[in-house]
Formats: sequence, C-alpha cells, structure tokens
Amino acid sequence: MEDWSECLDVAVQVARRAGQPSSVRSCSGSQSAALVSGSSWVFHFEVSHIFNVGRFQVVSCAVNQEKQVSSKSTPTDLVTETDHQVEELIISTLRQKYPTHRFIGEESAAAGGRCELSDAPTWIIDPIDGTCNFVHSFPMVAVSIGFAVRRELEFGVIYHCFEGTLFTGRRGHGAFCDGVRLHVSRESEMSKALILTEIGAKRDPATLDVFLGNMRRILSAPTHGVRIVGSSTLALCQVASGAAEGYYQYGLHCWDIAAAAVIIREAGGCVMDTTGAPLDLMSRRVVAAGTPEIAESVLKLLQPIDYGRDDND
Ligand code: IPD
Repeated sequence: MEDWSECLDVAVQVARRAGQPSSVRSCSGSQSAALVSGSSWVFHFEVSHIFNVGRFQVVSCAVNQEKQVSSKSTPTDLVTETDHQVEELIISTLRQKYPTHRFIGEESAAAGGRCELSDAPTWIIDPIDGTCNFVHSFPMVAVSIGFAVRRELEFGVIYHCFEGTLFTGRRGHGAFCDGVRLHVSRESEMSKALILTEIGAKRDPATLDVFLGNMRRILSAPTHGVRIVGSSTLALCQVASGAAEGYYQYGLHCWDIAAAAVIIREAGGCVMDTTGAPLDLMSRRVVAAGTPEIAESVLKLLQPIDYGRDDND
C-alpha cells in the first residue's frame, strides 16, 4: 500500500500558509500582493516559499480593506477575490510538487473546470469554506484540502482560519486537532443530540419549505437543538470532535465534504448518503454522525432536496 504521509505533510503546510490568522506583517523582496482582509484578521501567504522566489516573504494587506464580492450559481452563493487567489496558490504549490496529480477546486469548478473523480491521486480543495462568513468577518472560515486515490479518501486537512486550529485525518491513522486525538460522541439517542446543518445556496420558496420542514422534524424528534455555523467543513469538524452528534445537508459540494469525511471516520464516526447508502462524494448530500443510531434517526426524518451532482454540471 502506498504511503501518502508526505502528501499529508505538504497539505498541512499549504493549508496553514493559506489561511493563517495574522496581524499585518511587513513585506520584503520584490513580490507582494494585497489580498482581501477581515476587520481584525488577514489572509497572508508566504509567497517566496510557494513560488520559490528564494527568500522568505510574507504577503499581507491593510485591515479594513474593501472585499471584492460577487455571486456564482445564485445571489447567495458568494465568492471573493481571496477565494480565487487562495485556490490558485494552493493548486500551483501542489501542482509544482506533484505534476501528475489531479485537482478539483471550488473556484476552478465554478469557472467551468471538470469535477471528476478518477483513479488518479486527486486533491479536492475548498480555498475558503464559509465565504459568506468571511465577507462578514463572522469567525467560522476554513481552508479544506482532501486527497483521494482510486476514488478512496486517504486524508483530509481543515484549517480554522480564525482560531488557527488544524484538523487532520488519515485513513487508518486517526484524526487529530492540533495533535490531540479526536473522538466522536457516543450518544445514540436523538433526544440527547445536538444536530448541525447548513442552508445551501437555493432560496426559492419550494426549497425553503423542504429545508424548514426537515429542520422542524429534527427539532421535534425531539433533539437538544439544531445549529448552523455557516461553514460545512467546520460544522463537520464539530461532529468529529464530539461537540455535536450529527450533521445533514443537501446542496454541499465534494470540496465541502472530502477532507471532513476522513476526519469524522477516523474519529470513530460515520459519513453516508442521505438515503443510508455509502457516501457518494459527488451527490451533494450527506449525513454524518458519531453513531450509526443518530445517523439512522436523522436520515429517516429527511425529505430530499435535489441539487443535481457535482460531476454532472
Ligand atoms: C459553503 C458553506 C456553506 C454551505 C454551502 C457550502 P463556501 O461553502 O460551507 O455553509 O451551506 O453548502 O458550499 O461556498 O463558503 O466555500
């Protein structure tokens, strides 16, 4: 069996570099670029390392800079210049090191790039998960990098940009947050569960009726509560760390689930299709839970919302 640990190490370095919380740092050398920032936090990149400029350099920007926001599939599906820049930096770094590997990235896909999982080693990247949060400086934003070989997820890395915490999971080797082993909640009763979900980009009345109907049934199961944090990857990390018992969503993408699926499984949890079938990374729907009992209880209460498939666009 191939050992992908070197790739995991590289993914960790790239994710940290791409999304490190930082005060403004000084630039040196000839290459610099201003990137979009939050009011008390900035993305910065160690560009010299990524592009081999030859000397250490930090690219940063002034606080309070205006964000350049636009929309994609719907008016609520947001993207900023930073999403594009972060994705380009992550992919160019990885491609330089692994020229034969394939890449699926959120912004490349939005620009018409193919979203296809083959047998080849494939990196699945969400440069900024929680773009709407990023736009509002709501502190739940992550960089997510998953890696699959022969269509099987090998490892996942999720960097919480505001907290500076790093979640990792590698198939057969456990899941960790900053080196501390993660364990899911062993709760099996819905009446004692905290369930997470995300809203998705569709806001037409019919979709919202189904979405709210699903939430109503989950709440009156009963459960302790339902939470929406605005970042699929960080919500899924809460299931991996035992802070929540379950998660469901229609409308997420393969880059929202790839890294998190390995982390949850390695923390002892389960990740599956909303029908109860094995997870289909391209299906845009998921149920994840600490225990099979919670997963089963959640999926029984759901009415589907059709978002199509990532590989059918
Ligand atoms: C989105 C966020 C959001 C979820 C969407 C995701 P993005 O990712 O995680 O909470 O509802 O389904 O696509 O666009 O911010 O990377």
